[in-house]
Amino acid sequence: MLLAFILLHSFYQTLAAKGGAHWSYDAHSQETWPEAYPDCGLKAQSPIDIQMGSVQYDPSLPPIEPEGYRNPGSDPFALTNNGHTVQMSLAEGMNLHGLPNIYTAVQLHFHWGSKGSSGGSEHLIDGQAFPGELHVVHFNSEKYANVSEAMHHPDGLAVLGIFLEVGKMENPAYNNIFNQVDKIQYAGEEDTVSPFNIRNLLPEHLGHYFRYNGSLTTPPCYQSVLWTVFHQPVQISAAQIEKLQKSVYSSKAGSSTPQSLVDTFRHPQLLNGRVVFSSFPAGPSGYSAGEIVAIVFGVLMGCAALFLTGWIVAKRTRARSMQDQKGVVFTSSSRRAV
Ligand SMILES: *[C@@H]1O[C@H](CO)[C@@H](O)[C@H](O)[C@H]1NC(C)=O
Ligand SMILES: *[C@@H]1O[C@H](CO)[C@@H](O)[C@H](O)[C@H]1NC(C)=O
Repeated sequence: MLLAFILLHSFYQTLAAKGGAHWSYDAHSQETWPEAYPDCGLKAQSPIDIQMGSVQYDPSLPPIEPEGYRNPGSDPFALTNNGHTVQMSLAEGMNLHGLPNIYTAVQLHFHWGSKGSSGGSEHLIDGQAFPGELHVVHFNSEKYANVSEAMHHPDGLAVLGIFLEVGKMENPAYNNIFNQVDKIQYAGEEDTVSPFNIRNLLPEHLGHYFRYNGSLTTPPCYQSVLWTVFHQPVQISAAQIEKLQKSVYSSKAGSSTPQSLVDTFRHPQLLNGRVVFSSFPAGPSGYSAGEIVAIVFGVLMGCAALFLTGWIVAKRTRARSMQDQKGVVFTSSSRRAV
C-alpha cells in the first residue's frame, strides 16, 4: 500500500517535472501542483470557501458593468477542449467597468462535478458547493498589452465567478455552448460557436458580489486575479449540466483508456488573513437579505403587538378603576342619602 503510494507519488512528480502539461484534478495530484508550479503553494490562492459570517460589507463597491457583452461582434468564438475544461474565446470589444481598471474579456470556461455528486463549483459558500461554476477571464487592458503579459502582475486579471445551480428550466443562453460540446469531446479538439449575447450567461443582478484578491485556480496559479464572485446563481437544467459531466474527455481521441473529464474543481485554499468583501450587507451566519428583512419585520411586529397589548391592558385597568371609583362615589353618596 505504502509502496504503491510512493510509486504513484514519484510518477506524478515525474509528470509534473516534465514541464507540466500533465497536471490533473484528482486529490493527490492537486497536492503536487506546487512541485512543478511553485506559485500554487503561495498564500493568496483561489478558490476559497466564502464564509458569510466573516465577509466585510463595503458599500462603496459599485455594480459590475459589462460593455459589449450583448453584441460581441460577428466573428465566431473558438470552443476548445484543452484537456482540463471546455473553454470559449471571447471578442476584443468586451470590457468590464466598475473595477479599479478597465478589463477586457479573453475567454470563459467551466468547472463541474460528476453525475450524482453535489459538488462542482470551485468557490464555496459556507462550505457548500454548487453543481458548477462559470469563469469569465479578463485582463487589465489599461496597463498591459495582452493576457500573457498581464497574468504575471498582481493587478493583471479580473475573473467573474458565476455559480451554476440546477433548476427545472433549461437556460437557452447556455445551449449556445452546450449544444457544441459533442464536437469537442476529446482533448485538443476545437470547434466554433456563433456569436451570441454573453450578458445572458451572467446572473440578472450584477450588484451583489464577493470581492477578494486571489489566483488562477489552475497551474501556474499566478496570484494576479481580482475576483468577483456573484451571490446570485444562474439556473441551468439537469440535462444541461449532464452535457458537461458525460460528453467530455480529458484524454485524446482514440485513446485506449478514455478518461471522462469530471470533477474539474480545485479544493478551497486558505485565506491566510485575506479579507473577503461583499458589495451588499451579507449578514451573519448565512442569513440572506430576505431572511434579515423577515427577521426585522417579525421583531417590529412583535414590538407592535406587545405595545398594543400593553395599551389595551392599561386602558381596561383604567376603565375598571374609574368604575370602581364611580362605585365608591355611588355607595358613599347612597350611604349619605340613607
Ligand atoms: C504580449 O505582449 C508582450 C509585451 O508587449 C509581447 O512581448 C508578447 O509577444 C505578447 N504576446 C502575445 C501572445 O501576443
Ligand atoms: C488587493 O490587493 C491590492 C494590493 O495589495 C490592494 O490595494 C487591494 O485593496 C486589495 N483588494 C482586495 C479586494 O482585497
